Amino acid sequence: MAYTNLSKKLAVAMVTLAVACAHALAARDLVDAAAMAQRHERWMAKHGRAYADDAEKARRLEVFRDNVAFIESVNAAASQHKFWLEENQFADLTNAEFRATRTGLRPSSSRGNRAPTSFRYANVSAGDLPASVDWRGKGAVNPVKDQGDCGCCWAFSAVAAMEGAVKLSTGKLVSLSEQQLVSCDVKGEDQGCEGGLMDDAFDFIIKNGGLAAESDYPYTASDDKCATAGAGATAATIKGYEDVPANDEEALLKAVANQPVSVAIDGGDRYFQFYKGGVLSGATGCATELDHAITAVGYGVASDGTKYWLMKNSWGTSWGEDGYVRMERGVADKEGVCGLAMMASYPTA
Ligand SMILES: *[C@@H]1O[C@H](CO)[C@@H](O)[C@H](O)[C@H]1NC(C)=O
Repeated sequence: MAYTNLSKKLAVAMVTLAVACAHALAARDLVDAAAMAQRHERWMAKHGRAYADDAEKARRLEVFRDNVAFIESVNAAASQHKFWLEENQFADLTNAEFRATRTGLRPSSSRGNRAPTSFRYANVSAGDLPASVDWRGKGAVNPVKDQGDCGCCWAFSAVAAMEGAVKLSTGKLVSLSEQQLVSCDVKGEDQGCEGGLMDDAFDFIIKNGGLAAESDYPYTASDDKCATAGAGATAATIKGYEDVPANDEEALLKAVANQPVSVAIDGGDRYFQFYKGGVLSGATGCATELDHAITAVGYGVASDGTKYWLMKNSWGTSWGEDGYVRMERGVADKEGVCGLAMMASYPTA
C-alpha cells in the first residue's frame, strides 16, 4: 500500500539520516580527540611534563580536556566579566589536586575569639588617599616567588607583608625565608605544607626574634625538619602586627595605602587556577570560604573604570599578570570579592 511504502521510505530515510549524523559526529569526535591529544602533547612539551605510564597519560588527557573546555567557555564570555583564563602549567590538575597543594590557609577560630587589635590607620582620612598605589614602584616588593607543591601560601603572604614593612622602616628590601616558617613554626596553628595562618606566623617571628634571609634558609617546598645551626641568624624582625577591621574595604584601603598587607581569600577555584589577566570579580562565584592567602601590594583603577586591588600571589611568574592578580575593589558585599576584606593583617616593624 501507498501508506506503508511511504512510511517505509520515511523510516529508511530517517535511519539513513541518523546513521549519517552519527557518522559525522563520530568523525568529528575523532578529529577533536586527535586534536586534543596533540594539544595535550604540545602542552606537555611546553611545561616539561612526563607521566609514569599510558594509563596516567590518558587520565591526565581527560583532566586536560575538561579544563580546556572550562577555560574556553569562560574566555568566550570575557567581554562580560573583564578577566580571562589561560591553559597554564596547572592544566592537567583537577581542581581538588590544585587546591590541595597550591593554597594552604587554615582559618583558625583564634582570631574570632581574641580581642581586636589596635588599627593604626583608623584615623587616616579616606579622602586624602592617592587614587592608586603600587608598592612595587617604591621598592617594597620582592620578585614573585613560587610555593610549589606545598600548601603554605600563609608563609608567603606573611613574608611578603613583612618584607614590605621592613623596607618601609629600614629602607632596605631583603628577601626573607618562608622555609623557616614552614619548618620551624610548627608548635601552634601553623603546620607547614598542611596550612597555616599569617597572624600565627607573625607571632612566631616575634617570638623567634626575627626571620632568616631567604638565601640563608632557602625554600624546599617540603616539611623539612627545622634547621637551627647556621640557618638561625635573623636578617630582619618585626615588633608586632595588627588586624585590619574585618569586612571593611575602606579600612583595607587605608592600610594598603600605607604598607603591603596580608590578605586571606576564597581563592582555590578553577578561575584562580587558570587566571591570566584582567580584574577578577564575584562573577567567578567565589564566596567566603577562605582557603588561600596573598598579599595586597597596591590598588588602582583599570582603564574601563573598574576599581581593583593589586595582589601578589605565590604561584610563580607565569601565572596571572606576571604572578599578580587584580581583584575587584569596592563591591557591595562587605566581605569584598572572594572574602578579601574578611581577614587582612600586617606586621609592624
Ligand atoms: C583616632 O582618633 C580618636 C579620636 O581622636 C582617638 O581616640 C584614637 O586613639 C585615634 N586612633 C588612632 C589609631 O590613632
